[in-house]
Amino acid sequence: MAVLVVGGAGYIGSHTARALRQNGYEVIIFDNLSTGHSLLVDGFELIVGDVTDRDKLSPIMNRIEAILYFAAHAYVGESVENPRKYFTNNVQSALQFLDTAIDAGIYHFVFSSSCAVYGVPATIPIAEDAPRQPINPYGASKLFFENALEGYGRAYGLRYANLRYFNAAGADESGQIGELHNPETHLIPLALAAASGSGPELQVFGCDYPTPDGTCVRDYVHVSDIAEAHVLALQQLLGEKTQISLNLGTGQGYSIKQVLNAVQDITGRSVPWRPKPRRPGDPPVLIADPSRAHQILRWKAQRPLERIVSTAWQWMSARNNFSLATPPGSRTGPNWPSSGKEVRGRA
Ligand SMILES: NC(=O)c1ccc[n+]([C@@H]2O[C@H](COP(=O)([O-])OP(=O)(O)OC[C@H]3O[C@@H](n4cnc5c(N)ncnc54)[C@H](O)[C@@H]3O)[C@@H](O)[C@H]2O)c1
Repeated sequence: MAVLVVGGAGYIGSHTARALRQNGYEVIIFDNLSTGHSLLVDGFELIVGDVTDRDKLSPIMNRIEAILYFAAHAYVGESVENPRKYFTNNVQSALQFLDTAIDAGIYHFVFSSSCAVYGVPATIPIAEDAPRQPINPYGASKLFFENALEGYGRAYGLRYANLRYFNAAGADESGQIGELHNPETHLIPLALAAASGSGPELQVFGCDYPTPDGTCVRDYVHVSDIAEAHVLALQQLLGEKTQISLNLGTGQGYSIKQVLNAVQDITGRSVPWRPKPRRPGDPPVLIADPSRAHQILRWKAQRPLERIVSTAWQWMSARNNFSLATPPGSRTGPNWPSSGKEVRGRA
């Protein structure tokens, strides 16, 4: 059975493409390569195009039975500064794509949502029925599309899964693919780059939070665990489930300082870091309650923090791509042009 992985040349999409293929699916990747990389989908059929390109998509729709949709802009800070860019791509273009799919008779859709839909949660861990009150345009764009899927489900019989990832991290165990954001804003690659000496010292935003060591606590979930959850969600949609909304996290939180200790243990190098003021809108603690994912998908994240860090380290060492961590606007490595923009915090 053939599936279309939209945004499949990105970080999470490329890992999911591998998991799908390992589970017997024929995979077609569709990506405009705005933030994706063809090298992450070496050996896959890659069709380069934008999700709004109906003419390019129509013949592909005849070949597939389901869609996994990863395409989005995903920098929280940028979404605050340039909401238009976010609502255009994550909502308007995504809706246009959804209509193309529905018109072509594709009724199985797995969507990359985010814990950003919850905003600042009142209770931890966060269950799926927690109020969805995003506090930035990125989170709002994800919630908007979730709501669209719900309406399309009711009206048109679309079967859909909203998978709300917490902090995706780590890399494929092969060492062949991994995280390749530019600019990179995620803690683990930045900490590894700082430890290696090839990136700047790490900035830790807020050391006075009401957490055990004062730094923010997050739920880091291995990208391959997330990828496997997509396969299971797709199988459920192809089976009896018509709509699924699930948190993908481990249920275990780690503070920034705990992550830095893990980086030090695995690399044998200390992470130079500097305290910075808190960033507005950063909740002190974000931890998933993953029990519904376990119940519905029989899924549980398998790979612990050490595995997340060691696979990320293996990938970065293999690519020698530490230069991605240079501050936006400054010179980046030979292969990776800088976006030249200040972009804070991905989600
Ligand atoms: N990385 C995380 O921790 C995280 C957490 C929560 C949710 N998410 C969501 O997961 C998804 C994947 O995230 P990622 O980290 O892999 O990001 P990514 O930037 O690596 O991947 C996104 C991919 O979508 C493609 N794309 C974007 N707009 C497109 C368009 N209009 N047409 C065609 N292709 C387009 C990009 O080129 C890229 O390959 C996103 O929707 C993101 O919002 C990510």
